[in-house]
Amino acid sequence: MSNPVIECLLNHRSVRKYKKKPLEPDKLELILRAGTRAATAGNLQLYSFIVVDDDEKKKELDRAWEARPVSLADAAVVIIALVDQYRVKRWLRLHSDREIHNNRPINFFLGIWDALIALQNIVVAAESMGLGTCYVGSILEMNIQEILKTPEHVFPAGMVCIGYPNEWPAFSMRLPLEAVVHKNIYVLPSDNEINEWYKERDAVWDTVADTLKERLKEQNIFGIAQALAIQRYSEEAVEKRSKGILDNLRRSEFDLSDKD
Ligand SMILES: Cc1cc2nc3c(=O)[nH]c(=O)nc-3n(C[C@H](O)[C@H](O)[C@H](O)COP(=O)(O)O)c2cc1C
Repeated sequence: MSNPVIECLLNHRSVRKYKKKPLEPDKLELILRAGTRAATAGNLQLYSFIVVDDDEKKKELDRAWEARPVSLADAAVVIIALVDQYRVKRWLRLHSDREIHNNRPINFFLGIWDALIALQNIVVAAESMGLGTCYVGSILEMNIQEILKTPEHVFPAGMVCIGYPNEWPAFSMRLPLEAVVHKNIYVLPSDNEINEWYKERDAVWDTVADTLKERLKEQNIFGIAQALAIQRYSEEAVEKRSKGILDNLRRSEFDLSDKD
């Protein structure tokens, strides 16, 4: 029942180390064409891609980013998918004198769908050619107006590194299907089910080095879930990362507020 597309999808792992080898222009073009063939709301393509292949620009992006398990500078190209409600407004303005409302939640979220669906097409196309990819979430918090010179009504949706792999990592774990698939309605799981589904992740604690465990215990961290609760889901951690996103929203002049 399998086929090359399914095999490619089931073979995915994030690649964070790349060979120093440029991406051939014809391959890049094919990847981008696969991206723009994706479904798009109203067939309006409410996105733009910025393809970064300049080493200085990659380093500038790297500097704007705190956590660095993957170095953007090593990737052959970095592709940034932007929500773009600017370009379409320019078009409509050339032909209509009606006021164009392009910065409200519907404009924003359709743009997010469009940009990320197209970006995932890019990832799959690149992986189908034997290239390695890795998403980088921090683009959400970067000042793209400054770094990428974006106009108003443009917001970063996603970023991905692409290059020839210099590693082929093991598959990372996934929750069992029954944990993520509901039939017809959302069924609340029992505590036992939750524990069962996450036990593989809990077991990662056993692989943590003793020295690191000792340091984490000083922060009252005795397991993976506790580490996530403190390091990823504390008010401080969430507000810190959300601030950059809110700054980006403000600078890009999207207004997600309730007007009633
Ligand atoms: C929205 C998003 C943001 C991500 N951000 C980063 C990142 O900043 N750094 C990184 O090394 N990996 C990042 N990743 C890759 C994930 O860490 C990776 O997909 C996850 O650990 C599962 O591993 P796998 O892709 O190898 O299956 C991101 C993935 C997604 C979807």
